[in-house]
Parts: sequence; structure tokens; C-alpha cells
Amino acid sequence: MHTILMFLVLFFHFHIFKAHPNCFCVHAITHVCSLATIDRLELVMPKYAIKGGDATLKCDHSVPLEQLHKVEWKKAGVKIFQYVKGRTPPFRYFPTAGAELNKEHSSEKQIQLSKLDFPASGSYSCIVSMETPIFSKETESHELTVIEPQDSDPIITFNKDTYEIGEILEANCTTSPARPPPHVTWLINNERVDDSLTKPFSNGRLHGHGYFERKSSSTTQLSVEVSELHGGEDGVLRLTCMSTIPGYVSHNDKYADIRQHSVITISQKNLNNIFPLKLHQHSPDKVCR
Ligand SMILES: *[C@@H]1O[C@H](CO)[C@@H](O)[C@H](O)[C@H]1NC(C)=O
Repeated sequence: MHTILMFLVLFFHFHIFKAHPNCFCVHAITHVCSLATIDRLELVMPKYAIKGGDATLKCDHSVPLEQLHKVEWKKAGVKIFQYVKGRTPPFRYFPTAGAELNKEHSSEKQIQLSKLDFPASGSYSCIVSMETPIFSKETESHELTVIEPQDSDPIITFNKDTYEIGEILEANCTTSPARPPPHVTWLINNERVDDSLTKPFSNGRLHGHGYFERKSSSTTQLSVEVSELHGGEDGVLRLTCMSTIPGYVSHNDKYADIRQHSVITISQKNLNNIFPLKLHQHSPDKVCR
């Protein structure tokens, strides 16, 4: 009896031991082994960061610490950070243009780039390596863009003070300088104006992949025929200029920088049934960043 038990215990150990270091056994008895994979590996990082500020890049993966061997970070294919489990010290930092690696907030899970400057813009990726079995996987690379935001709200100027029905209202929205130059979106009564009615005049000089050498403003002109519709039921026409980095985004995305300015025009038709629309400069709407 004693010998049989011993044999079973040994046999059991042997199976666990043999199977574990080389492969994941899907079924312990039939020894069907699957190739090693990393189920979840994702780089979580912001698309934009403010010059002088910092950005945290997370390497989110499903490898448990006991199977983890190494985590590396690359900027444009060049290694900037390395964690090797069990090595003393486990972390190595490599110099990278336009940023400092914040040691306090960098670990096997994430890195933090501090004191950001424009050269820190570019593509980042992380590579996770497993010990058993030996296996590495790299995330897709993601772009970080360092921006210098606007200092103030955009300014709206008009070609006239009053308009009659059928006349062309021409307005310019000029943004405060930023890098890259902000994108302008015009809204009439809170609805986005069709591109055919707007014309951009960009002051910034394009450099390389959309980078600008200095902060610059941008101007976008709106030309629209004043129709009775614009006056609305209450005779109020609200023109809004949104100046943002990046350009107009969908609901789930965020702006890195947003400023806006609205102008209310009041039609006098409610008073005496005639236009013109009179322009009233409305104090800028407060927008939280
Ligand atoms: C708008 O800007 C353009 C280009 O700078 C200029 O030619 C035009 O006169 C401006 N119009 C108004 C209404 O400010």
C-alpha cells in the first residue's frame, strides 16, 4: 500500500513539473499543449500632452508577475526604459529627447515622462517578455503629441455691424497663438457650419509631419447669407467660434485644448418686423479644460 501511494505522488509531481516549464497544458492527462501567448497586451496613453507637463504611459498586460521576465519601452524604435525582474537594480533608464523619465512613477507597469518638450512627440510602444516559456510581444505603437495651448479665447471680427436679409455676413475668427496652430470650427445656433461656408487662412508654417516651429494663430473666415431662418423664432442668431487642438472630434474623444467665443446677433423683427441683425459681442463662454 505504501509503495503504491509513493508511486502516485511521484507520478503526479512529474506531470506538473514536466508540463509547466515548457508549455501551458490545456489538459493535464492528455498533455495537449498550447503555444504561449499573451492574451491581453495594450498600451494605454494619452494622445496629447502639454509642454512642461507630464504623461503616464501604461503597459497593460495579462502576464502574472511570477511569469514576467522583462518589460521594455521604446520611443520610435529606440529603447528608453527597461525592467528586468530579479536584476539589481531592476530598472534602467535611457536618455530620450524632450522628456525625463520620472523614476518615482516608473515601474514594471508604467512609465511617466516629465518636463515634456516638443521632441518627446512621436510613437511609443512597450514589449513584454515572459520567462516560461520564453516569449515576447510588442504592443502597437501609439503617437504622443506635445502641444503648447492657447493663452486666451479667439477673437471674432465682422465686416459690418448690421445686416439685412439677403446680405452676406462675413466674420473672421482669429485664435490665440498655440503650437500646433488651433483648428477653428464655426457654429450657428450650436450647429456645426458646413465647410463650404468657411475658409481657413493659416499663418503657421508647416514643418515635417505637421509640426510647427513656433506658436502661431490661425484665422478662419465664415461667409453666410443672412436669411430669416438664422434669426430663429426668438430672432436670436448665435455665432460661435471654437478653437481647438486637435480639430473637431466626435463625442467620445477629448480636446487637448479648447477655447471659444460666441457672438449673439439680435434681429429687430420682433420689435418692428424688420431686420437688420444687430451684433452684440457676448462675453466668452467659460470652457473647462
Ligand atoms: C478676414 O481675414 C482675411 C485674411 O486675413 C482678410 O482678407 C479679410 O478682410 C478679413 N475679414 C474680416 C471681416 O475681418
